[in-house]
Amino acid sequence: MSLKKKINLKQLPKHIAIIMDGNGRWAQKQGRDRTFGHQSGVNAVREAAESAAELGIEYLTLYAFSTENWSRPKSEVDALMSLLVNTIEKETPTLNKNNICLNAIGDIESLPEESRNQLLKTIENTSENDRMTLNLALSYSARWELTEAVKLIVNKVNNGILNIDQIDQELINDHLNTAGMPDPELLIRTSGEYRISNFLLWQIAYAEFYFTDTLWPDFTREDLYKAILNYQCRERRFGKTSEQLLNV
Ligand code: IPE
Ligand code: IPE
Ligand code: MG
Repeated sequence: MSLKKKINLKQLPKHIAIIMDGNGRWAQKQGRDRTFGHQSGVNAVREAAESAAELGIEYLTLYAFSTENWSRPKSEVDALMSLLVNTIEKETPTLNKNNICLNAIGDIESLPEESRNQLLKTIENTSENDRMTLNLALSYSARWELTEAVKLIVNKVNNGILNIDQIDQELINDHLNTAGMPDPELLIRTSGEYRISNFLLWQIAYAEFYFTDTLWPDFTREDLYKAILNYQCRERRFGKTSEQLLNV
């Protein structure tokens, strides 16, 4: 039986973020090259996006390529970039069918022109969709994002647009790539690694973490349901005591 029925739809996270890890190891286990793993990971992306949208998740943020991933062998980076263009182009009708709006976070300017153009085209072509926002983190790292936010804010202060006393957490939020989005309540990482790898450092201040040994290409909708069910068993205290929560 699907775990979907057990999920409490009234207690869904609004925003789920996933560090999709393990493509390379998945391929190597089968004696294939790493690129084959990335290609196979696309099916898991489709599954995760469709099942999250069906449930009523409002934002799904997927870590697809980090700032640090530029240091991988050129052949792997090139393969990932062309996979990006092809997949985004091919998946546009499915995104529209599922009423999913594509968005990107990260240093989009650093992507090769063809990938960037296709990305911007699909973002434009899906912009009217309002069931779920699928955020692709591309050439993204949290320290890059925070550095950019600092530059934007300092620039406004220097130009007299902003007074230093106006700098608060809300203003910092507004200068991040995720401006206008709620913080992820649930962060999933696949492949048995227990680290954040420079992902959404500011936004995950109070996220619940869920780690699984499953390698990303094997991650199915049932795995997503399992993570959500696990999240729904957590007590989110935000610094308070359990007793205080009961008395609300
Ligand atoms: C995640 O899988 C995808 C990207 C980082 C692009 P990996 O490529 O990191 O796979 P492993 O961790 O080497 O198995
Ligand atoms: C994190 O995975 C980035 C993405 C999933 C895109 P990595 O495989 O690059 O992370 P590390 O290097 O193991 O920390
Ligand atoms: Mg990895």
